Amino acid sequence: MSDPNRIIVVLDYPDAASAMALAQRLDPAHCRVKVGKELFTAAGPSVVEALQQRGFDVFLDLKYHDIPNTVAGACRAAAALGVWMVNVHAGGGRAMLAAAREAVDRVPGRKPLLIGVTVLTSLDDAALSEVGIGCGAAAQVERLATLTSDCGLDGVVCSAAEAALVSAATRPGFLKVTPGIRLAGDAKGDQRRVVTPADAIRMGADYLVIGRSITHAADPLAVLEDIRHGLHAR
Ligand code: C5P
Repeated sequence: MSDPNRIIVVLDYPDAASAMALAQRLDPAHCRVKVGKELFTAAGPSVVEALQQRGFDVFLDLKYHDIPNTVAGACRAAAALGVWMVNVHAGGGRAMLAAAREAVDRVPGRKPLLIGVTVLTSLDDAALSEVGIGCGAAAQVERLATLTSDCGLDGVVCSAAEAALVSAATRPGFLKVTPGIRLAGDAKGDQRRVVTPADAIRMGADYLVIGRSITHAADPLAVLEDIRHGLHAR
């Protein structure tokens, strides 16, 4: 994959001011940014617009999971905001995925990349089993990636550890967006299926979603630059 701008910095902050304080120090040529449930619920679409005005591509990570008509409407609204990437839970099923695809396709002009979330990187096999999925994370990711690809979405969110099996099960160019990234020695926090940035790229990830390893560092910019240089040196 030829996109040199592969790092997506997670802006998981309680308000727009905190998110913009970090964004103002970041260069849109060096990273993209992700707005998730916490920031979007607190600050709304205006924070997305402010980030886009600063030149950032925004991944709107709201993981829609609802009946097809509702998800289609949410995807249309996200596309109208002008975001670069938007996602839905692949577990919502074929009809929901198809409705999301159709809604985005009907948007005039630039369309966001439409991505399906497979299995959250905070879940391990034991946690999956507890909610009735006994086949393990890897098999469930493979199943949901195949369905997502069949429905014409642009890629999936998965752990980098599953990128190779997703590639094998899907068409060329199908994107692997991978959270659960940690630097050697970082705390895992609530994540379970974690991989380092260089390993993630080596394993076939297209985009790295990196939150606390950057945002909780004493010097977030230095960590971002270290990661970028590590990737480019490869
Ligand atoms: O701080 P950390 O690097 O763990 O942040 C990961 C981000 O990626 C969080 O915002 C989380 O919501 C998101 N995410 C995830 N696992 C997925 C999809 C998204 O961790 N499967």
